[in-house]
Amino acid sequence: MKQYDSNTRRDFMKNAALATAGATVLSSFSIPGAYAAGSDVIKIALVGCGGRGTGAAFQAFATGHNLKLVAMADAFKDQLEDSYSKLFKKFGKEKVDVPEERKFVGFDAYKEAIKEADVVILATPPGFRPDHFEEAVRQDKQVFMEKPVATDAPGIRKVLAVAEEARAKKLNVVVGLQRRYQDNYIETVGRIKDGAIGEIVSGQVFWNGGGVWVRERQPGQTEMEYQMRNWYYFNWLCGDHIVEQHVHNIDVANWIKGSYPVKAEGTGGRLIRTGKDNGEIYDHHVVLFTYDDGTVIHSECRHFPGVHNRVDEAFRGTAGSAFMHAGNHGVIWDAKGNELYNHNGENNPNPYQKEHDELFAAIVKGEYKFADAENAAKSTMTAIMGRYATYSGKIISWEEALNSPISLKPDTLDWDAMPKVLPGEDGYYPHAVPGKTKVV
Ligand SMILES: NC(=O)c1ccc[n+]([C@@H]2O[C@H](COP(=O)([O-])OP(=O)(O)OC[C@H]3O[C@@H](n4cnc5c(N)ncnc54)[C@H](O)[C@@H]3O)[C@@H](O)[C@H]2O)c1
Repeated sequence: MKQYDSNTRRDFMKNAALATAGATVLSSFSIPGAYAAGSDVIKIALVGCGGRGTGAAFQAFATGHNLKLVAMADAFKDQLEDSYSKLFKKFGKEKVDVPEERKFVGFDAYKEAIKEADVVILATPPGFRPDHFEEAVRQDKQVFMEKPVATDAPGIRKVLAVAEEARAKKLNVVVGLQRRYQDNYIETVGRIKDGAIGEIVSGQVFWNGGGVWVRERQPGQTEMEYQMRNWYYFNWLCGDHIVEQHVHNIDVANWIKGSYPVKAEGTGGRLIRTGKDNGEIYDHHVVLFTYDDGTVIHSECRHFPGVHNRVDEAFRGTAGSAFMHAGNHGVIWDAKGNELYNHNGENNPNPYQKEHDELFAAIVKGEYKFADAENAAKSTMTAIMGRYATYSGKIISWEEALNSPISLKPDTLDWDAMPKVLPGEDGYYPHAVPGKTKVV
């Protein structure tokens, strides 16, 4: 049976805009100041030492290459120390070589940490990603960065520009849209792209889950500290869950279509999560994304506990249908419902690990192989366009969305500075109202 070996996938060559995991080797690299293949040790820096950043560092070490964590940066000292102690306990002094002088804290910490490393892991909330990615590429570093890669259109435009620069400098960039590194997706999407279900005519992508953590306001916190700690609920940091989580499923639709939607329309709101600690984000969005050939993808994301939930992707084509799920499922049927393919997910590699295995293998060999940032920016933009549609209640075109001048970022990043969205006198935050809220 034909295997969709990630080294031979055709997407990359066919459409550089969709470049992603496992592309063919683009070239060897040789960059002043960057890690040189064959050197003894690869130095890594972790920027954003929370759950995912710490996990990513574990995965980097698990590649088995000669890596050393040499610097850490976080907005908060306690977050950094918690991550440091977990990593130090597991990997010891030889691997986790981060003395006090290479622990950097605060809004500018990333600049100092990036200086120390060959490879940087960027895992803060996504609102900071454009600036952190820009700095990493400016300093000629190879990058693993988490999705999403921005929370608004100005951020996306920056990531797209930096992605070009990374490409020109031949810096590997892997983004944590891990379905692109997951065997069931690679195999099933590969078959669909080879015509297994004909031309795609429609699809449904879902992230309907029970919701995420809340970090309640603590006495003595400034407004900036509170929003930074409880970042999920503020758009300048998180982008709303349609961006923060559902980007994964939306990216699968873009991958299968081989393009990005030309417009979005939708509806959404806040039904359940309406407390003072629930900031400004919605708890549900339903969006129709239309592609230039008329294909409509129905996208649904919801944070309701105690109801029927699903996180998966389904597509219908002129000759059949397909279903995928992050639990290693991938099934393809013909138009009569006969099963054509059923992915065997047994013993499939963990995609989070594979991202790092492939990135560090390329770096060690001196290969330039990964240019994930452009696709990640465009899939993040797709999700942001969905949010613009649900917040405004209007049909939003790709051009309008991408060119939106509205920046969510505070004018100043400082613990006493004020974010742009503040609570009213009653302690509740204003949220988008369709028909009134301006998004583009
Ligand atoms: N690929 C996946 O499946 C997956 C899973 C979980 C999280 N993520 C992504 O990883 C990112 C982080 O999520 P998390 O769950 O680790 O959140 P988290 O809250 O556990 O960690 C975020 C960390 O970033 C720090 N931080 C915030 N602003 C910073 C700044 N300006 N400079 C330096 N540090 C800063 C925080 O203090 C915190 O320690 C998000 O983009 C999230 O979407 C991806």
